[in-house]
Amino acid sequence: MREQLESSLRAMLSLTFGRFWIIPLDIYQVGIRPLLFSGFKADPELLHQQTLRMLSLLDQSGDRPGGRWTQERLQQSLCLTNVRLEQTLWGLKFPNPVGLAAGFDKDGVAAGIWEVLGFGFAELGTVTFQAQSGNPRPRLFRLMRDRAALNRMGFNNQGADAMAKRLSSVSGQESVVSDQETTGNGQRTTGKIPIGINLGKSKITPLEKAATDYLGSFRLLKNLGDYFVVNVSSPNTVGLRSLQSSDQLSLILEQLQQENQGQKPIFVKIAPDLEWEAIADVLYIAQNYHLAGIIATNTTISRDNLKTQVIEATGKDVREEAGGISGAPLRDRSTAVIRFIWQQTQGQLPIIGVGGIFTAADAWEKITAGASLIQVYTGWIYEGPWMVRRILEGLLQKLEERGLTSISEAIGIDS
Ligand SMILES: Cc1cc2nc3c(=O)[nH]c(=O)nc-3n(C[C@H](O)[C@H](O)[C@H](O)COP(=O)(O)O)c2cc1C
Repeated sequence: MREQLESSLRAMLSLTFGRFWIIPLDIYQVGIRPLLFSGFKADPELLHQQTLRMLSLLDQSGDRPGGRWTQERLQQSLCLTNVRLEQTLWGLKFPNPVGLAAGFDKDGVAAGIWEVLGFGFAELGTVTFQAQSGNPRPRLFRLMRDRAALNRMGFNNQGADAMAKRLSSVSGQESVVSDQETTGNGQRTTGKIPIGINLGKSKITPLEKAATDYLGSFRLLKNLGDYFVVNVSSPNTVGLRSLQSSDQLSLILEQLQQENQGQKPIFVKIAPDLEWEAIADVLYIAQNYHLAGIIATNTTISRDNLKTQVIEATGKDVREEAGGISGAPLRDRSTAVIRFIWQQTQGQLPIIGVGGIFTAADAWEKITAGASLIQVYTGWIYEGPWMVRRILEGLLQKLEERGLTSISEAIGIDS
């Protein structure tokens, strides 16, 4: 079964990445995507699971000739290395500024594959202390006309302990290959790109015990990630976003930083729907607790300016469906939040910008508004695996046009 899967994967990849890699746009966007999105009328979550299973298999097969061959083809086709895109932040070396956003690899089942696909870093999770199955299905929908997604997954994941076991077994097998593996107290892990771990609150844990829940996950995982994210911004766990308030956030960060002892960079990921005043409060807390930065933003609960009226799969009005919107409709709000943070902190608090990035122009807008790094999720689904490389090529072109020598010089220049 495994061999069969591997050989069909190889055949598919040699077709899409081998002979025809010069016209990648045609193959994914004209061929594969229409088939995946509409031809099979498949449930988006099922497609996601199958993709992840394939990537996990590919990740694990790197020490076999077939697996190695496939990974090399992918790398040749999808990766772009250029010293002008590199940055060292928090003692970590980022080969490029485009990362995978949280939510795609919630359990870290394909943690080693993201660098092969061209990403400069990847964020695993959200993982919670308790394993949990998430909200009832269907819970992930595509809004094709809006180039968006609506999800209410509800932190479905196998729990922090399972992730810790998985990541430590990988790090046990792998030799030490990167600079950052020797930094801090970390015995981390697989490859050459920084790996973040995004932590959430377990559904069964009451809000007043949230700090203990985050702390439990952090204790299990602290040696296995390069940076950590306190996710208090998902709209899909009841009451979670109330943890963005000063009192609640302080309680969580107090405990985490005490356990952390300055070893790992810790971020807070915020919602795009916060009022400016509430964001300013988070910034104050972030600086007080010596956070490494802010991840802006999570999905939005706003349904403004959507072309989609009805969710086809349920027949219900999009305003009646619970969940967060990601993709193009989120882009401008997320950029505005980034710009606000940059201005409020005079560029002193690093920002990882995420929300509605599809093109190099979108990425450039986020970086010049103040983001040191960016992340993608929905755009990658719509645009396909060549998106990262296209963005990187476009960023290099923008640097050229603006007479800049490195991406770090572009951060916040239009804010
Ligand atoms: C299906 C799905 C699941 C997600 N799950 C998580 C998650 O578990 N934790 C998290 O912090 N963000 C999660 N996100 C939010 C993304 O990380 C990102 O912040 C948001 O989608 C905006 O980026 P995008 O427009 O590029 O998708 C999820 C997004 C989607 C579409």
